[in-house]
Amino acid sequence: MNLKIALLPGDGIGPEVLEQAVKCLQAVEETFNHNFTYKEALVGAIAIEKKRNPLPNTTLELCKEADAVLFGAIGDPKYDNDPEAKIRPEQGLLRLRKELELFANIRPVKIFPSLIHNSPLKKDIISKTDFIIYRELTGGIYFGEKKINAEGTVASDLCEYSEKEISRIAHLAFKAAKNRRNKLTLVDKANVLESSRLWRKVVTKIGESYPEVVLDFLFVDNAAMQIILNPRQFDVILTENMFGDIISDEGSVIGGSIGLLASASVGDENALFEPIHGSYPQAKGKDIANPIASILSAAMLLEHFGLFEEAMAVREAVDKSLEKSVVTPDLNAKSQYGTGQVGDFIAHNIVDSEDDINMN
Ligand code: IPM
Ligand code: MN
Repeated sequence: MNLKIALLPGDGIGPEVLEQAVKCLQAVEETFNHNFTYKEALVGAIAIEKKRNPLPNTTLELCKEADAVLFGAIGDPKYDNDPEAKIRPEQGLLRLRKELELFANIRPVKIFPSLIHNSPLKKDIISKTDFIIYRELTGGIYFGEKKINAEGTVASDLCEYSEKEISRIAHLAFKAAKNRRNKLTLVDKANVLESSRLWRKVVTKIGESYPEVVLDFLFVDNAAMQIILNPRQFDVILTENMFGDIISDEGSVIGGSIGLLASASVGDENALFEPIHGSYPQAKGKDIANPIASILSAAMLLEHFGLFEEAMAVREAVDKSLEKSVVTPDLNAKSQYGTGQVGDFIAHNIVDSEDDINMN
C-alpha cells in the first residue's frame, strides 16, 4: 500500500518520540512491502517561533493532502503562565482538528499484563481493564464563543452542541461497541447542563438502531470515580470534548504511565494519530521520554487503513519490549535504555519477530 504521511513533531519530546514511531513504520514497510512517504511540517510553539503562527498554512495544506497525520506533542511552559499571550501553541492543534474535521478522538485504555505492578492502583481493581473512550473533538466548550468584558473582570466560554455533531460520533461509538462487548456508557452532566440533556436525547434515539448494544448513562463526576474504582465495568465510553479530555488523563493512570496511551482522531476525510501525553518539556533532549504511546499511535494509523497484520506486528514488538523490560525509566527506574534504544528494539522486532535482539 502507498501512504502519504504528514509528520508534525511539534514541541518538547514530540520530535524524539515521533522519530521512533517513524522507525517502526519503516520497519513495517520493509517487512510487509509497503511504500510510505513522509513529509515534515511545523506546528505549535516551534511554529510560533519560526513563522509567528502555531499552524502555518503550509502545514495545514500538507495535512490536507496527506492520507494521515502523525503528530508528536504540543505546548511550551513559557505560554502557560502568561494569561496575556494572544498566540498559543495549543491553538495549532485545536485549529488543525477543526480544519480537518476530526470530530472523533478514540482513546483505548488497556492494561498491559506485564506492567500491572506499575500502576498506583491495586492489581485486582485494574486487571483486565479494557475500554475505549470516544471523545467528541471539534465542538463544545473548546470551540464555543469566548468572551471577556472590557474591564477584563468577567469571562465566559460557551458550551454548544448540535444534534448533528452528537449523532456522527455516536454512530461511531455504537459501531465500536457492537464489535466489542456491546456496552456503551454516555458520560455527561445531564442533571445540570442543557447540552448534556441534548446528548442524552440524541444518543438514546440512535441507540434504537443498535438494539444489541446496552446503553447506560453516568454523570461525569460519578464516572471519574467509577473509572478508578471499577474500570472493568466499561467497554465504550462516549462523551463530549472537555469531559473526554479529563477522563482520558485519568484513564492513563490505570496503565501505570501516560507514556503508553495512543489516540486516533478521525473525521470523514482525514485522520490524525497522536499520543495522549503532552510535550513534557522537562524531558526534552534527555533521551528519557517513553516512545511507546507514539509507536502505538502508528499502530492505530495502520489499523485505520486496514493493515491489521502490520499493526499486530507493531503491538507484539511493543509487548516484547515490555516483557523484556527494554523500556524507558518511567516504566522501570533502573532502566538503562533511552528513547532511541527502545525505538530501535521495537523496530528490529517488527522486522524479524523470530530474532531476539540482544541490546547489551
Ligand atoms: C489533549 C490535549 C489537548 C486538549 C491540548 C493540548 C489542547 O490535552 O489532546 O488531550 O485539551 O485536547
Ligand atoms: Mn488532554
